[in-house]
Amino acid sequence: MNPKTPFESLTTMAQVMQITDANTAGFVHGGSIMKLVDSAAGVAAMRHAQRRVVTAQVDSLTFHAPVHIGDVLSLTACVTQAWKTSMEIEVTVYREDPVTGEKDHTTTAYLTMVGLDERGRPVAVPGVAPGTDEEARRQREAETRRKARIQLRQDLENE
Ligand SMILES: CC(C)(COP(=O)(O)OP(=O)(O)OC[C@H]1O[C@@H](n2cnc3c(N)ncnc32)[C@H](O)[C@@H]1OP(=O)(O)O)[C@@H](O)C(=O)NCCC(=O)NCCS
Repeated sequence: MNPKTPFESLTTMAQVMQITDANTAGFVHGGSIMKLVDSAAGVAAMRHAQRRVVTAQVDSLTFHAPVHIGDVLSLTACVTQAWKTSMEIEVTVYREDPVTGEKDHTTTAYLTMVGLDERGRPVAVPGVAPGTDEEARRQREAETRRKARIQLRQDLENE
């Protein structure tokens, strides 16, 4: 299997936030954004693996700024690194007021997705070959996050 660049899995999505996405404070419910994040990550992972995938873990999801009803959300997702059967996907989300043009970076998320074979078992996925210095930096950071995840799991098992 030939490695692929993160650019090959690049996925963009845009969606207008509706009244049905509101929370009781009148902003967009975090869960509505999380669902879109998971969808964008899933498409990026499938583009990379050319397989069905499942979300194994949402490693982190940070809300930097609130999203308002009527805003356009733009999501960008790509695979930052792949191991044997799992991949890390970075998702960044921007909100935009389509009338004023005001934009904010609202959310950053990292998810681990696993490629599945026809029987639903984990299957090997292509590696990642960064095409730019920026992609190489993201790949190194993905390794650091994976090491931290494994260390945390081991620490908790040893408690
Ligand atoms: C994710 C899943 C396929 C892993 O299956 P498993 O039998 O534990 O498989 P393995 O132990 O062989 O692990 C397979 C890969 O998943 C990774 N993995 C498993 N659990 C993980 C977790 N909680 N977080 C991060 N990675 C995980 C392993 O590190 C391994 O990666 P690698 O091959 O690149 O080293 C299985 O737990 C599952 O189906 N979970 C439910 C997924 C789901 O329903 N998601 C929501 C809807 S999409």
